[in-house]
This record gives sequence, structure tokens and C-alpha cells, in this order.
Amino acid sequence: MTKGLGKGLTNYGDEAFSLFHRKVFIKAMGYSDDALDRPIVGVTNTYSDYNPCHGNVPDLIESVKRGIQMAGGMPMVFPTISIHESFAYPTSMFLRNLMAMDTEEMIRAQAMDAVVVIGGCDKTLPAQVMAVASVDIPTVVVPTGPMVVGHHGGEVLGACTDCRRLWAQFRAGQKDMAEMELIGARLAPSVGTCGVMGTASTMGCIVEAMGLALPLSATAPAPHADRRRIAEASGKRAAEMAVSGTPRPSQLITRASVRNAMVVLQAIGGSTNGLIHLTAMAGRAGVPLDLDEFDKLGREVPVLVNLKPSGAHYMEHFHYAGGLPALLRELKPLLELSAPTVTGATLGDVIAQAEAATGQEVIRRFDAPLKKEGAMAVLHGNLAPRGAVIKQSAATPELMRHAGRAVVFDSVDDMMARIDRPDLDVNADDVLVLRNAGPVGAPGMPEAGYLPIPMKLARQGVKDMVRISDARMSGTAFGTIVLHITPESAVGGPLAIVQTGDRIRLDVEARSIELLIDDAELEGRLAAWKESPPQRESPIRGYAKLFENSVLQADQGCDFDFLLREGPVARKRP
Ligand code: FES
Repeated sequence: MTKGLGKGLTNYGDEAFSLFHRKVFIKAMGYSDDALDRPIVGVTNTYSDYNPCHGNVPDLIESVKRGIQMAGGMPMVFPTISIHESFAYPTSMFLRNLMAMDTEEMIRAQAMDAVVVIGGCDKTLPAQVMAVASVDIPTVVVPTGPMVVGHHGGEVLGACTDCRRLWAQFRAGQKDMAEMELIGARLAPSVGTCGVMGTASTMGCIVEAMGLALPLSATAPAPHADRRRIAEASGKRAAEMAVSGTPRPSQLITRASVRNAMVVLQAIGGSTNGLIHLTAMAGRAGVPLDLDEFDKLGREVPVLVNLKPSGAHYMEHFHYAGGLPALLRELKPLLELSAPTVTGATLGDVIAQAEAATGQEVIRRFDAPLKKEGAMAVLHGNLAPRGAVIKQSAATPELMRHAGRAVVFDSVDDMMARIDRPDLDVNADDVLVLRNAGPVGAPGMPEAGYLPIPMKLARQGVKDMVRISDARMSGTAFGTIVLHITPESAVGGPLAIVQTGDRIRLDVEARSIELLIDDAELEGRLAAWKESPPQRESPIRGYAKLFENSVLQADQGCDFDFLLREGPVARKRP
């Protein structure tokens, strides 16, 4: 098998010339033949002035390169798309698959024997893992790591659970704009990903649990020396893998590792987005994710990590408590310990090396959990024939069984226009319904599922209501919020036919979400919708058109239909 610079030669109809031509150009960068003869490790560069979560990427690249060179390899850094949550219109999820395609094709197109992907902000790690699962060359994942905590008024703060909590206090009239401006400068005091168990942290934990990243990769704070040492070690390991050609992502993303990831997702109080991304990543490796199995695990696996938004602490505290390996030790009886990892050792071996940090309160013992059930429950019912999800660990216990009158918003725009109007007919025990916010409908399934409490109720002290939608929610958000209703309303899911005034019943213990109308009425409304669906504007060109034509529903990870793996990888590199 061809290695190094001779891989994937540009097709000029003369292979020897293609290699000569390639060397002519690359020597313009000052490389010697000795350097060019070494195994090549590609390193992605996702630095962007728009992406503070990746603000340490240049430092990490330096550390990764040092590690590669220490092990005799040749690092080659190349750019890919970078996505930051708050600089991604209409929503970062819209761009995740584009980043996955960009990363996949640039790895395929350029000569490399292994790759180190450096990502962090929510959609970037999933996009990168989707890409490498499709290319299937030896890969080490290096998360950028969480930011450190901030402080204000004697309180410890972290983006962005506290952004939402404090903004809710502002909406309720408990804080003024001057204080909010001050807080705004203190919520994100360093580069790195959100410091709570949001989507970025969740994906870091999942990637580490699946053995795709070195131990402690998920938790070491972005600005700490530990993070750079991990990056160096990752580069070193990638150079070894470039020589051995193993392990490849297909050897690491297996039924066993996907199950381990599901256990971890439940135990960390992980983001609901993590479920969609895990489905997509596993789908690229041909491993279907079973929502029923995930829900069943949620009844057996307690939440053990005491981090916001489900608990009290922040990611850097998780790191000081021993990080993911220490959590895995608590979960040992539930894990597939023989699952291989990128280190060359099994997950069981990694757990054997876990630090026993004493006196910490962040990782609970299995017999003294933070919550007795896992982070998430999967719901079914006539409103969600293919499922919906609720983050029960961050919900209000009294609302987990609740029936109320539906107050329907037809779109995100409709919701924004009316939610705070004084004449909105809404009460605290109503159920707020948002539709046309799914993968096709919005498009890109924005994080609009965390509907704000209507201003007039917020000012009366209402802190939570049952809210349901086909949207997603930020991993840093909290509340009694049913998400990812599938199929979505824009493609004719039952959410499309809910009317204001209908009654809706949520019963998390029974795993059900029901529209309380009789079957004949439901069928009649659905038939009428199908006969005359509401007009909606469809994109006529470009990526938006590709997205609308190809995106799958939440239960299939919102990947594009033509990117799912079918049997062995279709295109093989020489
Ligand atoms: Fe990047 Fe939260 S905004 S991880």
C-alpha cells in the first residue's frame, strides 16, 4: 500500500511524473527529502477569528506538530471549515454536514497516512468524526477543551448555562442592563468551549469514551499546560499510527463503543444534541443507534457528574476530580471494557490508570448519584411516532407529568413576534408548542426549543413550563422541554396539526407525549394537512437546496442521505 507523499496522486496519466510534480511544488516550502520521505500526519486547522472556542488551536497545532516530529513523522497542517455557535446563520447545525464533507474530502484529496483533527465548538467534533469515519484512516481527535470559569458578585459563572439563567433574571426584571453588560464580560473569561456540560463538553466526553481521543482529552481546560501536553502526546501517537496503519476509526466506532458512549451520555447529564451527533457518527461507521436501547440505559444509568446544567460545577472541576477515566471507573460494570482505544490499550486498561482524586464532589459514586436515572428519556406517542427526547436531569420534577392547553407558535419567527406580547393568551400551566423548527422546517433544526417563558409570566415568577417542539436546544439550557419531535412538522409530522386550545399530556415516567384528541380527529386533520400542506419557501440553489433535499430526520442523526455508509467505504484510496 502506498504511503506518504505518493498517496492519492493527482491524475496526469503518468504516476512517476505526478510524484515528481508534487515534490517540485512542496519543495518550494523548504522541505528536505528526509522530511518528505517520512510518514505524513495531517493536522486540521480550524482556527478562525470568528471562533473563540478554537482560540487555542494555533498553540495546540504547535504541540501536535512537536509530538509528530518526536516520533519521526512529518506534520502537514491544512485548513478546514470552522463553526462557532453564535456566528453561524441560520444555525450551526445547518453547517455541520458541510464541515463533515469539507473535512472528509480534504483528507481524501491530500496525501496523509494519519490525521489529527482538532475541534471543539459544538458541531465541529461531530463533523470531524463523521468525516474520519467515512475516510477511515488512523485518526486521533484533540478537543480544544473547555474554558475556565468566571466570577461575578461572589458567584462562579460559566458560559453558557449562566448566560441563560442570568438573562432570564434580566427578563424577569431582577437585573438591569448595566449589570448584564458587566456580567457579559465575565461569563467567558478564556478561550475554549463552554465550561458546562453543554454540547461541546458532551461530545468531548463521547469521543474520549469511544477511544477516539487520549485519556483526559475531554476535560483538560483549554488554556492549561495539560491540554498542550495531551496535544503533544496525540501527535506522537498519530505518527506511530501512521506507520502501523492502525487503529482505524472503523476499528474504534463499533457497537461496543457506541454503547459505551450511550452510557456516558446518560451519566454525564449530557446534551440532547449529543444523541443526534452520536447517531450521525455511528451511522457513518454503519452502526445503527437504537433509541429504545438508549432509553433503557437511561433507566439503569444514573447521572453521576455534578455539572451544570444538571448539577452545580464546571468542566475544569470535572478535570480536577479525575476527568472521564475516573467517571468510567464508577460506570465499569455497565461498560464494554474490551473496547479498543486509540492508545492501543482497551478501555478497561484506561480505567485501571484512572486517578483516585480524594475529597472531590464532582464525580459521584454509583451508589450516591446526582439523579437516580440518566440524563435523557426517549418519548413516544401520537405526537412523536418516531420519537422525541427530554433532558429529564435538567427538568422540573413537578412538570414531568403534566397535562395542559396547547399554545401554538407556527415558526420561530411567529414565536419571537408574539411570545412577549401582553395580550398573549397564556397561563403557567399551558404547554408552549413550537413547530416548523426541525431539520427541514427552519432549516437546520435551530436551538429554539428552549422557548423563553412569556415575559408576563416571567415577571410573575414563573421559571419553567412544559415546552415542546421539533427543534433542538443548547446543551447548556435547562427546563421541562421536549425536543426533536420526529417526524418534524414541515414534512407532515403530527406536530403540524396541533391547534391552540388542544390538550397535550407529557408523562416522562411512561415515556409518552400525547395529543389528547381521538384517533379519528387526528387522522382527519393529518389527511387535510397532506391534501393542502401550508406553502413554504424552498431554496432554489446552492447548499441550502442540497440540505433540504438530503437531510434526514433527528432519529437518523440529521446526516445527508447520500453520506450514510452502505457496506464498505465506496471510494478507496490507493
Ligand atoms: Fe462554542 Fe459553546 S459556543 S462550545
